[in-house]
Amino acid sequence: MNIDGKAWRTIWLEQGGAAVGVIDQTLLPHRFETRSLASLDQTAQAIATMVVRGAPLIGVTGAYGLMLALRHDPGDSALEAAFEQLNATRPTAINLRWALERVRERVRPLPPEQRAEAAKVEAAAIADEDVAMCEAIGDHGLRIFQAIAAARPVERQGEPLNVLTHCNAGWLATVDWGTALAPIYKAHRAGIPIHVWVDETRPRNQGASLTAFELGREGVSHTVIVDNAGGHLMQHGQVDVVIVGTDRTTRSGDVCNKIGTYLKALAAFDNGVPFYVALPASTIDWTIDDGVAEIPIEARSAREVTHIQGRPGEIAYGSDPITVQLSPDGSMGFNPAFDVTPARLVTGLITERGVAEASEEGLRSLYAQA
Ligand code: MRU
Repeated sequence: MNIDGKAWRTIWLEQGGAAVGVIDQTLLPHRFETRSLASLDQTAQAIATMVVRGAPLIGVTGAYGLMLALRHDPGDSALEAAFEQLNATRPTAINLRWALERVRERVRPLPPEQRAEAAKVEAAAIADEDVAMCEAIGDHGLRIFQAIAAARPVERQGEPLNVLTHCNAGWLATVDWGTALAPIYKAHRAGIPIHVWVDETRPRNQGASLTAFELGREGVSHTVIVDNAGGHLMQHGQVDVVIVGTDRTTRSGDVCNKIGTYLKALAAFDNGVPFYVALPASTIDWTIDDGVAEIPIEARSAREVTHIQGRPGEIAYGSDPITVQLSPDGSMGFNPAFDVTPARLVTGLITERGVAEASEEGLRSLYAQA
């Protein structure tokens, strides 16, 4: 990822592993600031308050959180307690449980004095693998974009490919590259003209603030739209393809992602617009089949609906964002953070191993051992 000419990852070790550095995503795009997480509690708090967010990044942060916990107390009961504390921070993204289980399985057989170091090595491996998986997703997605661009009528050849995305599934949501945004970066770097419609993604506006920030830093042409505009744009031929990320994908190919994704899939289906979902293997939950019935949907604070955060136009970049109230005093708010798009609405799943049909057969064709 490129932030003002410097290559970054979203998470890194500090002081040889005594702390973990992250970008504070609650301040973006109005202020760029990093934070040092030095304890289990600070890590759990950073995930719960969305200082870090996005399914793959939550997983890696949780893995490092276990490392920090084990540095303090490497005993069995402390390990279990840290696992439970971190796992409870955000219930929908399966990457968190997957990464925590991976570190726990790695360290449990070891004597306590070796556990923190082993957790560090395992968490770093998860981070590196995430980068590699996301880059591979980018390569597979690029080929789909090329095919869609080539299939357009002669009079539209050479025009920018119009891609619509929801929420933020870019480098800020992963360690680097992103999932849904990786093919966009690959296409941009390959010189393919591309333009991104960025759903603002109420209530927390990860599209308007984070995706727009990323695309701007990478020099990708983009336009922020209100969440309700996508269907209209599709009806008027202004969207060539939709691509989103996912926080949990069932073995049958149902896809759980940021609230509002389902409505985009319905609009895409009705208008014959391809709807792709990009995901690394760590986002597949092989234990469940029916996403609507079985995926726990995180309910976040109603205040995220009744209030909104931003920077007053007259205040310079770099200042603290402010919060203003939208609804009348006393109005209730309800804030389910994710929804499920049934597999039948998904054109294809773009994984690090290639593109699969959104079905158990499709996923097993890529992950036979799972
Ligand atoms: O609530 P968030 O911001 O953590 O939600 C993020 C998303 O919904 C992303 O689309 C998803 O995690 C996929 S990230 C590569």
